[in-house]
Amino acid sequence: MDRFVIEGGRPLDGRIAVSGSKNAALPILLAATLADEPVRIGNVPCLRDIDTTIQLLGLLGCRAEREAGGDVVIHACDLRPEAPYDLVRTMRASVLCLGPLLARLGTARVALPGGCAIGARPVDMHLKGLEKMGARFSLEHGDIVGSCPDGLHGAHILLDFPTVGGTENLIMAAVLADGETVIENAAREPEIVDLAEFLRACGARISGHGSSVVRIEGVPRLAGCCYQVMPDRIEAGTYLVAAGITRGRLELEHCPLAALDAVTAKLREMGMRIEARGDVVVAEATGPLMCQDVTTQPYPGFPTDMQAQIMALMTVSQGAGTITEGIFENRFMHVPELCRLGAHITLAGQTAVVRGVQRLTGALVMASDLRASACLVLAGLAVQGTTVVRRIYHLDRGYEAMERKLAAVGACIRREKE
Ligand code: UD1
Repeated sequence: MDRFVIEGGRPLDGRIAVSGSKNAALPILLAATLADEPVRIGNVPCLRDIDTTIQLLGLLGCRAEREAGGDVVIHACDLRPEAPYDLVRTMRASVLCLGPLLARLGTARVALPGGCAIGARPVDMHLKGLEKMGARFSLEHGDIVGSCPDGLHGAHILLDFPTVGGTENLIMAAVLADGETVIENAAREPEIVDLAEFLRACGARISGHGSSVVRIEGVPRLAGCCYQVMPDRIEAGTYLVAAGITRGRLELEHCPLAALDAVTAKLREMGMRIEARGDVVVAEATGPLMCQDVTTQPYPGFPTDMQAQIMALMTVSQGAGTITEGIFENRFMHVPELCRLGAHITLAGQTAVVRGVQRLTGALVMASDLRASACLVLAGLAVQGTTVVRRIYHLDRGYEAMERKLAAVGACIRREKE
């Protein structure tokens, strides 16, 4: 197992290129199974979750490989309906193959993902929506077994909550269903827009993506296409915070600023300067930063995937602020670890109260999930002294070359074997 050793206290200065979006690439790679011709997908980040997805596509009977230039080429030439538990348990997003498999094959057997560090994360809304489209499900030996012998049909689906994965699964199922599907209270995340644009490039008929009512008119087949994945807004947001927490200055290339409105608004309220200059976004913190109140919400609200990072920033800002988690029930695992570094945070239910401190001090800390790991690295960059972040395999799932990108802008960070 690898760990990061970070000598903090150095302001970052330089340019970082934002990679392709993990959360857009995962559904797009799986949606490639809907096309009966090869698809070529570019700007796919080099991450463990992407490798897992390519492996899953292989098990599903696709030819799927990353070419030397970085593009991933997928041909669903011999599609098979089974996603085994060994793979699904390492990456919950595997459940996104359910919609495409039902749409293409009329049958699917996908292991039910278990809970994870940030909560139970059920998939009931995915299943309820697919049932409305004509699928039937049973749970057999831990697997979701679905079938629709007469094919899927269009349906009117009202989601109880704008679930991101649920909206994606339903859009993917609906593109080949018979007739029109309307998804109300759909998630509006930019990654859903990216998925819909990929599907449209393959010939799907989708409108309203990015709003809370998405309409899909089923078509008989999807063709191949070439598509570039959007940049990663959470990776970009993490590096904006890195500029702030080290009181440095970073220029971000390929920064999807429009998709980061809620994040940049909060960072500016805290006192950071963030502006687009030519083709880069410049983020800097020269004066003191002030704690603010943050509540995570579905897009366009403040993203839960940036909650841990902004908390790290608040631990070394002035005053006090609250952070309320509105999406997941157990997403404060990073709080005790930040406290080990000297942060002052108290928890009351779904709200954390952060009182800024003058300085953090280095310690050994443990990463619990992807974004929690990022927050500990950020805190480590601010610490005077040495911080060791253990279990960074979580980071490798979602941040491409993080230590290389940070080292190139002046961070003292190295990867070690435990
Ligand atoms: C996606 C993102 C994840 C992000 C999250 C919220 C990917 C691969 N992952 O996860 O990084 O943190 O959106 O922005 O894109 N829920 C149910 N029943 C369901 C579905 C969801 O109760 O059928 C609940 C979940 O437990 C959670 C909430 O709804 O509390 C939001 O989940 P959802 O939007 O589905 O998140 P994911 O798609 O899993």
